[in-house]
Amino acid sequence: MAPTLARPAPAWLAASTEPALSPELLPIALVDFARLRTLIEDRCGIQLPDSKRTMVEARLRKRLLQLGLSSFDDYWRLLFDPARQASELVPLTDALTTNKTDFLREPAHFALLERTVLPALYADGIGRRTPLRVWSAAASTGEEPYTLAMVLAQWGRAQRSFDFTILGTDISTRVLAQARAATYDELAIAPLEDSWRRAYLLRARSSTAPAPFRIAPELRARVQFGQLNLMDADYGLPHPFHIIFCRNVLIYFNRETQTEVARKLTKNLAPSGYLFVGHSESLQNSGDTLTALAPSAYRVNRRSPECAI
Ligand SMILES: C[S@@+](CC[C@H](N)C(=O)[O-])C[C@H]1O[C@@H](n2cnc3c(N)ncnc32)[C@H](O)[C@@H]1O
Repeated sequence: MAPTLARPAPAWLAASTEPALSPELLPIALVDFARLRTLIEDRCGIQLPDSKRTMVEARLRKRLLQLGLSSFDDYWRLLFDPARQASELVPLTDALTTNKTDFLREPAHFALLERTVLPALYADGIGRRTPLRVWSAAASTGEEPYTLAMVLAQWGRAQRSFDFTILGTDISTRVLAQARAATYDELAIAPLEDSWRRAYLLRARSSTAPAPFRIAPELRARVQFGQLNLMDADYGLPHPFHIIFCRNVLIYFNRETQTEVARKLTKNLAPSGYLFVGHSESLQNSGDTLTALAPSAYRVNRRSPECAI
């Protein structure tokens, strides 16, 4: 029989707020990691190289605690049970997706909108005769679609009339709930200058509010949220968009999936539409369909058969 350890736990362990691990919890066996990798890549496109195994273990450990499970084996039994898999996929995706985002992230894109994109669309009657429609296709906790709403509202102030709507989608229901709540702390709103804070944020009256700031109702009314998986064969959206932001998500996909997602996004662009991807992302082989305007910003070629009619 293995000897038991009589010594007291070291201070750093006793002080830790992390729950003690049961011995079965670490590590995830390579064969199970491979099964999980296949499921996640098929389901949401995200690649899980071996280098992410420790990160995955840490995130899944929290999920196991929520479920009251004491071993990864119990979790695999649940996850790979055809009757239970569908309901577990949402929290699993929530646990494994990386949701980093900021207000005014990659600001060159918003400058390009103000200087080039919005004037060109407006000259074509978009925003005047018909509302400008914008889609933030990996919206995370809402900072990107609300930044878009602020930029558009600001630009619209100088026009005689300007109407726009924004759709924010994400695969993760957890981040979408945060985006709908539209509440942010001081750190999150740091990139916003004072005049924008005054114009577009409300300060909570009570110190017990979940966060000190909330997006103003006029902006919230312009932004709708819904769950959408970019891996779906057909996005089922009711109309084409004039501007699509799909930033900092393609980087998690393999080359083939990136190309396929870019093709589906382009199908949802209006004939004079614009597509923005993250600064570290670029679209390969899109020359027939899209023209690069600036790094990671593209305009659809008017006569391309790929764009929505
Ligand atoms: C790093 S955040 C980027 C947020 C924002 N676009 C930005 O650039 O700041 C990536 C987001 O993509 C979402 N995501 C990952 N896979 C997805 C998929 N297959 N379909 C839709 N959203 C996905 C994640 O849930 C996450 O919120």
